[in-house]
Amino acid sequence: MAGQRIDGTLVANSVKDIVREAVSELKKESIEPCLATILVGDDPASAIYVKNKQKACTEVGITTKDHKLPSSFSQKEMNVLIDLLNRDNSVHGILVQIPLPGQLNEFAITSRISPVKDVDCLTPFNIGLLVSNRAILKPCTPSGIIELFDYYKIDLAGKNAVIVNRSNLVGKPLYNLMLERDATVTTCHSKTRNLKEHCQRADIVITAIGDRSKFVLTADMIKDGAIVIDVGTTRLDGRLVGDVDYENVIKKASYVTPVPGGVGPMTIAMLLKNTVTAASISKGFVPDS
Ligand SMILES: NC(=O)c1ccc[n+]([C@@H]2O[C@H](COP(=O)([O-])OP(=O)(O)OC[C@H]3O[C@@H](n4cnc5c(N)ncnc54)[C@H](OP(=O)(O)O)[C@@H]3O)[C@@H](O)[C@H]2O)c1
Repeated sequence: MAGQRIDGTLVANSVKDIVREAVSELKKESIEPCLATILVGDDPASAIYVKNKQKACTEVGITTKDHKLPSSFSQKEMNVLIDLLNRDNSVHGILVQIPLPGQLNEFAITSRISPVKDVDCLTPFNIGLLVSNRAILKPCTPSGIIELFDYYKIDLAGKNAVIVNRSNLVGKPLYNLMLERDATVTTCHSKTRNLKEHCQRADIVITAIGDRSKFVLTADMIKDGAIVIDVGTTRLDGRLVGDVDYENVIKKASYVTPVPGGVGPMTIAMLLKNTVTAASISKGFVPDS
């Protein structure tokens, strides 16, 4: 029997409904949740990502402040802008679209964001809280994946999970969030030996590579009934695709996320959720988790 398609758009819409409700509650308290976006340069893909995030904000009533900057923008100018936004009480979340041009130090810039406005969870302070299971603002893509598991009532306790990615954005924070849910987590990367065997042993495979010339997760690489989460995004013959051979993998797996319509919408939904949480924090309200 074929596995079930995990509908990221459906789950993202349910998160957006909750966010919309929270926004209207905050507005009753005279708080207008606001996300400041920073885009440097003219990379078309980054421009689309930022535009989609701004559009999603508008849909749920979150205001955005757009900062579109030339590719020559300097580190000094960026420091001034971040400091300004950190002090601006009308701004609750700050999003710096990555990657940045070479003259800008990504780590220095994201570390400079006030932790209470760090809606991407990239500051060392928030990463520390994440590792200690105490994060309030959790990284968007990994927490979106956890939200998918919860929606589909997939219990992670005791499951063997393999994450094929070790980036700061995806693999490392996801490792922590899945460990928190009592999964036994293995992180794989480009130097991992016997990657196929790792995947074949896993109850859950999460792949985030985004280059099909390097890696495609095929049906022979998973065990029967495995749960497969495809984070990777790349273009193939003009179409957006992931890392997974979806048509064949879903015949063997129990659940699979499609690309598009899987993890992507969740990343945006969790950004909205974090912005509302950050706005709540500004009012002195600290949620339980
Ligand atoms: N849908 C979404 O919302 C969303 C969000 C974030 C990212 N993404 C997508 O996810 C993908 C990864 O993003 P990222 O920012 O994490 O990229 P990244 O920093 O380039 O990470 C890619 C990871 O893939 C590993 N890798 C590369 N080739 C491999 C191979 N042959 N075998 C095993 N592992 C291999 C790399 O290993 P090394 O560390 O050893 O180099 C690295 O850990 C991209 O396609 C991106 O667009 C999607």
